[in-house]
Amino acid sequence: MTTQHKDNNKILPQHVAVVMDGNGRWAKKRFLPRTAGHRAGVKATRRLVELCSIKGITALTLFAFSSENWNRPEQEVSSLMSLFLSTLNSELNKLHEKGVCIRFIGDRTRFSENLQAGIASAEKKTAANTQLKLNIAANYGGRWDIVNAALKLSRKLADGDISESQITEQAFTRELCLVDLPEPDLFIRTGGEQRISNFLLWQIAYTELFFTDTLWPEFDDAAFDEALEWYATRQRRFGKTGDQLQGRQAG
Ligand code: FPP
Repeated sequence: MTTQHKDNNKILPQHVAVVMDGNGRWAKKRFLPRTAGHRAGVKATRRLVELCSIKGITALTLFAFSSENWNRPEQEVSSLMSLFLSTLNSELNKLHEKGVCIRFIGDRTRFSENLQAGIASAEKKTAANTQLKLNIAANYGGRWDIVNAALKLSRKLADGDISESQITEQAFTRELCLVDLPEPDLFIRTGGEQRISNFLLWQIAYTELFFTDTLWPEFDDAAFDEALEWYATRQRRFGKTGDQLQGRQAG
């Protein structure tokens, strides 16, 4: 459970998770190739990172490439990979100067050696930064994360490092990605679909879910503000009653 903080008297999320959907449709509407949509998506991403940093949001987790995205046409996958590498190379120094700590979550072993090396060096360079934790989910799947955690726990059990009674929700959580961060307070999905698509399944158990028709390349300051305004109106109960939260006796 997280402590919420305020910006201009509004409750702000500490951790925002985003499914950046709609690049392809944005491009199609303009008779452009899908790759142009992804390039436009990078611009929207850059701005969101900046906004989170300015607003003092602690963590931002972006779904850049799901385990299922390998099923896209080969040409789109390879241009996405080139885009990730070139974006990493062009943005790294600026992000580092702004105090952004970059981390990738997901199975990176399927990426090219170049991309894996770029990822490793970005993580190393920015590891001590504290202004914003930027997590990029690449070849990530929520089920993969959960199965990984189960594997790690089962190895500990087999090695006798833990007993069955120590397999608790807390122990399980400790084996998942992003264990060191508060769980996402706000999940945003652009592009009109209202589903989670195997993003952070375990970690969003209590997250507020915001869906918008805005296509990712058009997700600008106003769109983010709209999501934040909506979030500020939510009453997060974590299983309690509204009266309990307001310190009133149940009648
Ligand atoms: C979804 O649009 C977006 C993706 C598959 C991820 C790619 C995201 C970016 C390139 C943004 C930049 C990110 C980083 C970390 C540099 P879609 O192709 O599914 O759109 P559609 O549903 O309209 O076809």
